[in-house]
Amino acid sequence: MAMDFKGVSEKTLVLIKPDGVQRGLIGEVLMRFERKGLKVVAMKMISLDEAVLREHYAHIADKPFFPGVSSFMQSSPVVAICLEGLEVVQAVRILCGITKARAADAGSIRGDFAMSVACNVIHASDSVETAMKEVPRFFKQDEIYEYGKSEYEHVYMEDEKN
Ligand code: PPS
Repeated sequence: MAMDFKGVSEKTLVLIKPDGVQRGLIGEVLMRFERKGLKVVAMKMISLDEAVLREHYAHIADKPFFPGVSSFMQSSPVVAICLEGLEVVQAVRILCGITKARAADAGSIRGDFAMSVACNVIHASDSVETAMKEVPRFFKQDEIYEYGKSEYEHVYMEDEKN
C-alpha cells in the first residue's frame, strides 16, 4: 500500500517507561494513540543502557536527579513506538499531558495514570527537531514501515494529506 501523505510526514518517538510496562498500561497507552487516528509505523520492546540514556537525556545529564532517572529507565524494558501523522509531535504531547503528572490535565495519559515527574508513564519527543534525532536513536530505517491506512479517509480531509 502507498504512503498516505504526499510529502514526508511528521514522525515522533514515544517510550512507554518502566512504570507503564510494570503497571500494565502498554495497551491503554497504545489504544489512546490508535483511537486518536495516529499511525504506528514502528514498535519494539527494548532494554535501555547507560550510554543511550546519557545521549537521550543529555539535556538533564547535569541535574541532580539524572542518576535516579537513568536507574529508573533501566529498571525494566520499555516499549519504543514511532507514530506518524499530521503535526503528530504536538498532538502526542497534548495526549501525554505535562511532565509533572500529578498536575497534568485529567483526560491526558499522565493526568489519568500517574503522580510523579519521572514515573510518568511515557516519554514523547518535545519538538519536531528533537523527534528527528530521537526516532533514529531508537529505530533503524528498515524498522520503520511505510504503509497506507484505510481509516485515513475518515481521519483527514484530502487537502490535509497534501
Ligand atoms: S519534557 O517532558 O521532556 O519536556 O520534560 P522535562 O521537564 O524537560 O524533563 C526531562 C526529563 O526529566 C525528567 N524529570 C525529572 N525526573 C526526576 N526528578 C525531577 N525533578 C524531574 N524533572 C524532570 C522527566 O521525567 C523528563 O523525562 P521524559 O522522559 O522526557 O519525560
